Amino acid sequence: MSKVSIHGAWSSRLIFIFAAVGSAVGLGNIWKFPYIAGEYGGGAFVLVYLVSVLLIGMPIMMAEIMLGRRGRQSPVNTMYNLAIEAGQHSAWKYLGWMGMIAGFMILSYYSVVAGEVMAYIFRAASGAFTNQTPSGIRSIYSDFVSDPENLLAWHTIFIIVTMAVVARGVRDGLEKTLRILMPLLFVLLLVLVGYGLNSDGFGEAVKFMFQPNLEKLIYTVNDNGVQELTAKPILVAMGHAFFTLSLGMGAILTYGAYLGRDVSISHVTLTIVIIDTVVALLAGLAIFPIVFSHQLDPAGGPGLIFQTLPIAFGSMPGGTFFGALFFILLFFAAWSSAISLIEPAVAWMVESKDMTRVKAAVWGGSIVWLLGIASIFSATGTTLRDIFITLLDWVGLETIGLKQDFFSLTFFEVIDFATANIMLPLGGMLTAIFVGWVMHRESVRAEINVRHGDLCTLWMTLLKYVSPVAVFIIFLSVIGLLG
Ligand code: PHE
Repeated sequence: MSKVSIHGAWSSRLIFIFAAVGSAVGLGNIWKFPYIAGEYGGGAFVLVYLVSVLLIGMPIMMAEIMLGRRGRQSPVNTMYNLAIEAGQHSAWKYLGWMGMIAGFMILSYYSVVAGEVMAYIFRAASGAFTNQTPSGIRSIYSDFVSDPENLLAWHTIFIIVTMAVVARGVRDGLEKTLRILMPLLFVLLLVLVGYGLNSDGFGEAVKFMFQPNLEKLIYTVNDNGVQELTAKPILVAMGHAFFTLSLGMGAILTYGAYLGRDVSISHVTLTIVIIDTVVALLAGLAIFPIVFSHQLDPAGGPGLIFQTLPIAFGSMPGGTFFGALFFILLFFAAWSSAISLIEPAVAWMVESKDMTRVKAAVWGGSIVWLLGIASIFSATGTTLRDIFITLLDWVGLETIGLKQDFFSLTFFEVIDFATANIMLPLGGMLTAIFVGWVMHRESVRAEINVRHGDLCTLWMTLLKYVSPVAVFIIFLSVIGLLG
């Protein structure tokens, strides 16, 4: 196996950490985590998420970095080579394929949301939030998302800036920017939490986030108002552990391919996981006090961040400045995650399709851009049912009854569920099985260089038994076999 990747290498351990944290910290922490925690009732959901990060996410992150560093190529080719090295079937490369496809799917809506963030930089800077009521803030948001041309323009800009960095190479494109901006984002989140601390909703927010309420976790209320057992919140919490840590699709594996031999994988993993988790919890502690001091609905959905934080910016001193700065930093966080969503595919195109980075980036960007259009219509409220009715209309057919729950979802909801809650956990589970059961133990040990023997055994146990079994059981229970 070659010693370095053809795509270059990180210049230091610290830069790898910045890049991996840049990948992990993004819209998942600040936009998605609060709204799904709100939707699934807070405390117990947060607890399942934290446990999943610790017992499933951490070991799989170590596994991905290790695989990348050993394979030194894109996920598809790394999996292929390592499967051959272990004397196994080359079909393991399809794990890499699934990851690439998941990356495209996630980026298609990620980019639309990141576009909304960019637009909000200008909203904030223009003073649009100053002294607005919560309902005024809400209508600013709903006016904004009901304008598809506008969303499309921002989506396009975001794809272009992402591809510009990917085309230059992740290292050159990323290193300098992230060094300054990531710490700044952290400080600004602290400012927002400080603002929340002084509001009457803070106590309730802390209770909401940290007091486990089991009922919300295993029951849903169906259309007829009857409580039903469900495993969905647990699946979503676990899926989010993968999403927020960028696991299960090869992003971290690809970054691991550019990592030097002398770096301790367990140390960098611990650092990345701690930072990512703290950022998510801070985002919750910034947003929920606003929710509760203004009697807003914590289950307000994907618009939650856009409907809460502007209230704070509108009333705090210097809010125009802080608001604009916050959305700028969030944009950078989203940008560095977006880059890692497409890097596995670009690396693969360069390796196996003989393309230049520029050409590969243009290809990747175009596919994602097209897919993203479907999510733009989701933001304006178009469901699959609406799409089918329009299509049937075009071909001149009567509308048949599309009553099933599925059709009342938006395209965004379907892609989000398919990726975060199915493809990433499945990818992670197969990664754990590959490292735990398929690879030769000596190859794993040679690469992982954990000096502490006990730690290595613990890691292996989590990978071999805990992660695959947990993901499997949660899948089964959602399918309904276990209730
Ligand atoms: N982890 C990123 C976030 O939280 C999203 C992401 C998922 C990035 C998967 C890469 C791979 O925003």
